[in-house]
Amino acid sequence: MCGITGYIGDNKTTDILIDGLKRLEYRGYDSCGIAAVDGKNRLYLKRVSGRVDALDKLVAAEPVKGAHAGVGHTRWATHGAPSEDNAHPHTDCSSEVVVVHNGIIENYLDLKEKLLAGGHKFKSETDTEVIAHIVEEKLKSLHVQASAARADMLEPVFFEAFRRAVADLKGSFAISVVWAKCPGMILAARMHSPLVVGLGKGENFIASDVSAFLKHTKRVVFLNDGEMAAVKKDGIDFYTFQGKKVAKEPVTIQWDSTMAEKGGYKHFMLKEIHEQAEAVENTLRGRLLPIGGDILRSEIGLSAEAMKSFSSLQFIACGTAYHAALVGRVLFENFGIAAHADVASEFTDRAKLMAPNTLVIAISQSGETADTLFAVREAKASGAKVLAITNTVGATLTREADYVLHTHCGPEIGVASTKAFLGQLAAIYLLAGHFAAARGRLTGTDARNYAEELLKIPRLIEETLEKEKEIAKVADSFASSEHFLFISRHINYPIALEGALKIKEIAYVHAEGYAAGEMKHGPIAIIYKGMPLLAVAPSGRTLDLMAGNIEEAKARGADVVAIVDEASKKTVKASRYLVLPTTGELFTPMLTVIPLQIFAYYVALAKKCDIDKPRNLAKSVTVR
Ligand code: F6R
Repeated sequence: MCGITGYIGDNKTTDILIDGLKRLEYRGYDSCGIAAVDGKNRLYLKRVSGRVDALDKLVAAEPVKGAHAGVGHTRWATHGAPSEDNAHPHTDCSSEVVVVHNGIIENYLDLKEKLLAGGHKFKSETDTEVIAHIVEEKLKSLHVQASAARADMLEPVFFEAFRRAVADLKGSFAISVVWAKCPGMILAARMHSPLVVGLGKGENFIASDVSAFLKHTKRVVFLNDGEMAAVKKDGIDFYTFQGKKVAKEPVTIQWDSTMAEKGGYKHFMLKEIHEQAEAVENTLRGRLLPIGGDILRSEIGLSAEAMKSFSSLQFIACGTAYHAALVGRVLFENFGIAAHADVASEFTDRAKLMAPNTLVIAISQSGETADTLFAVREAKASGAKVLAITNTVGATLTREADYVLHTHCGPEIGVASTKAFLGQLAAIYLLAGHFAAARGRLTGTDARNYAEELLKIPRLIEETLEKEKEIAKVADSFASSEHFLFISRHINYPIALEGALKIKEIAYVHAEGYAAGEMKHGPIAIIYKGMPLLAVAPSGRTLDLMAGNIEEAKARGADVVAIVDEASKKTVKASRYLVLPTTGELFTPMLTVIPLQIFAYYVALAKKCDIDKPRNLAKSVTVR
């Protein structure tokens, strides 16, 4: 959680830091701040409780002139409530060492106790502040040996003090530090939290992710766990935590910053809903045909032979990505391939019980979700191979997995995941096709039909999106409802869960997603007259049962909106219908989820919710 920016160079330091923070606000936004130093060793610190816009106003009212190095931070609280005192950057007792941090320092209480005993004074309740005081301690001890008068000694002293401070820390951290006495260098370190540096001309950048500085440079270096960077305006050196220099090659990021803008839509979420055909198309491109061939071998290292060899599949993921995993389970099972799906945070013990030669498939848009990463580590410790499905090049998950299948959705800024979900589904359908074909479960015309249906999906998504106004009207009619039910069966059951999750997170209403057959075992009792119930009921093997479940709900007063196709509409009796284009039964989740995303969006819009940044949430959940 939290977003970090850092800048060193001759341009407007505070503008660059604040602009970067605006782009990172999706990582957390309860408070924020910047610190900058000028050539005369003066330090400027500005913090606010609240959003980056408020910080921007504060800095505009009290501008910082002449600063050429600094760090910034947008926070999602872990230790200490959201407040100005707890906002980063944090300083040491002398207010010369300034720290921003993302992650959790697990041993901070021990460290704090020792520092307090040594006379340090703390100004916040955060775990982060200990870092500033430890650096201060280390600087003190090193200054005894180094002559403070010699400027050329300050950089090695600062580096060594920071290196030693980092060695004292346990937990997860991405840290960036500035020392007012040494304004020509910013230091950074990474352990289990993302950190990337951007290479400019006569200026360099640090951030939690590239979107913070993409408009300045696309040449970047991702830090690995256990690595540090010494960032100066004319160069960057990389080291291990042991102080050994490491050579790292920059990579060029293809996204441009306009891709990350709203493109004329009111919210990123709506823009991203409209980018879903493209997300699927890009994720499938060049990877599907010949189905069952070795087409993925060169890209991800997974040959058709290897696909045959796994005894079963185990999906792990969180939130929306978990719903993609549930669709994956049904899809693979449909092809007779044993598959399980677990929420990553509940996976730990199961890791040891997996059948030998299970392939673990970890799905994560960000590739940084702590629960997913820890589950992956457990799985690897049990000897399993891990395939990552992620949207983020260079993310931690990609470096820990044995095979990586990137979804090509572009950056997803809205906190509520939409196009990343479609990208994940596309990747799963792609894999399922190849696995099933490699194992002789999908052959001849069936294989051809599968590929043809899948390739038609982007066009059908566009057609589904044309229903936006109609869906918005239905959503408006329910804008004052406080309870919603979503039901479905089989491969669309995860879509009912996803529909409920979307509306909960962005419209702050109570919603339940249920397997339609389960309703009669208890939940049907909550139905009251007029309760909105969205029933996902496309044509397929469970349609008659679904129609029966809808009748049962109606008989208890539910106001049913049915998500159907032309054929299933004839079977289902509802108050209103949202009619989708027809596709094969197995592919329906890639269409049925879309009206539910749009529905949630318009209910949230009518309720005037902060759709792209819903309360209490953050885009990338890097704590467990
Ligand atoms: C919901 C949502 C979250 C994420 C979950 C996993 O709209 O965005 O539920 O899906 O936090 O995130 P990733 O995919 O980054 O691991």
